[in-house]
Amino acid sequence: MSKKLNGNSGAVVGSSSSTIKEENIVNAPEKFDAMPNPEELLLNKEDAPAITDRLNIFPFDWRVETPRLMEIYDSSRDPGWSPAQLPWDTLDVESLTLDQRYAISYWFALLSVFDASGPAVFARAMIHAYETHEEDAIRKCFFSVTRDEMNHEEVCGKAITLLTPNGPLGYEPETLLGKLARNNIEWLYHNGARYWRGYKKAVEMYPMGILFSSFLFGEVASSTLFHSMYQNTTIPVFKEAFRNIGRDEGRHLSFCLALLKEVLPRMTQEEKDTVTKQFRAGFIFLSGILYEPPEEFWQLPKTFLPAQRMLEDVARSAGFGILDLEERRENWRTAVVRLKTIVEPHGVKFPALPEIDVEGEDVAFDAEKIVPIF
Ligand SMILES: [Fe+2]
Ligand SMILES: [Fe+2]
Repeated sequence: MSKKLNGNSGAVVGSSSSTIKEENIVNAPEKFDAMPNPEELLLNKEDAPAITDRLNIFPFDWRVETPRLMEIYDSSRDPGWSPAQLPWDTLDVESLTLDQRYAISYWFALLSVFDASGPAVFARAMIHAYETHEEDAIRKCFFSVTRDEMNHEEVCGKAITLLTPNGPLGYEPETLLGKLARNNIEWLYHNGARYWRGYKKAVEMYPMGILFSSFLFGEVASSTLFHSMYQNTTIPVFKEAFRNIGRDEGRHLSFCLALLKEVLPRMTQEEKDTVTKQFRAGFIFLSGILYEPPEEFWQLPKTFLPAQRMLEDVARSAGFGILDLEERRENWRTAVVRLKTIVEPHGVKFPALPEIDVEGEDVAFDAEKIVPIF
């Protein structure tokens, strides 16, 4: 809005009814006799107070110590897909029985313990990377994973709400299996909440190398899972979703490998021993979806497993590609052995995983310190 000075009256008149009084007019800046002298200014400068907080995002720098991470980050700027543009309209919900809808929705609720927590988990890791002044490439790679995980979370939400509106918990199941699914989901979220409580503390406790080793296990698990779901699912929209999510998870795996290639050779023996323990913890947590939930972490009622097995059978009958128990065991074993061959040459011992016949070190398990996630 333009305002004009009105000559001698000293008042400012605008096109609106507002006026500015003379005493409110600010004086022009003071004029100096000479230009400021930088030498003199420097002599009189005051140092800013030191930032002494243990965790503070200031001051910033943009150093890159692992260029490979930056390259992968660049390639992730356009993930090449969007959950909103998947062919959801091809999902014929009406052609599925109520139990088939409940069962597929149930699997996505199970997945959401791992994948829908992804945005919060990686956002927290990203903030932590700022606070501990990690190189720019690490901050950016956490940002990129957070972005991807938001897409994966969106797929969980879209599938659940299409199949069970207001799901997974805000609707009344009409069948016995539906009621069992609901009870199972409440137990799954009880365990997810326990994971989150531990993760928030764990993420501040470990150096980046250990965090990345833990995330590595999660990415090995997720890329394996989505590859098998993609191969075995015949429902087009889910097949397409799994293909895209699997590709994202493969990229997350590349992030972890690129960083660990630099960090693993420099780790102390104590740090390597912590990685071994974290692998055991990761196996126990991730088995909740890759295999079946071990009791060491998962607090579940006796009805949980029989109900889940029934739900899996029904989901399979609709063309949803959950592997059977034996296939899952083999799949999980192959993935874990792959991880073992990556880390062992760097002197990281692998934990014993007798559940899937993998030999190694016997290590303690602490449910309060689980880090890995998809
Ligand atoms: Fe991931
Ligand atoms: Fe994910």
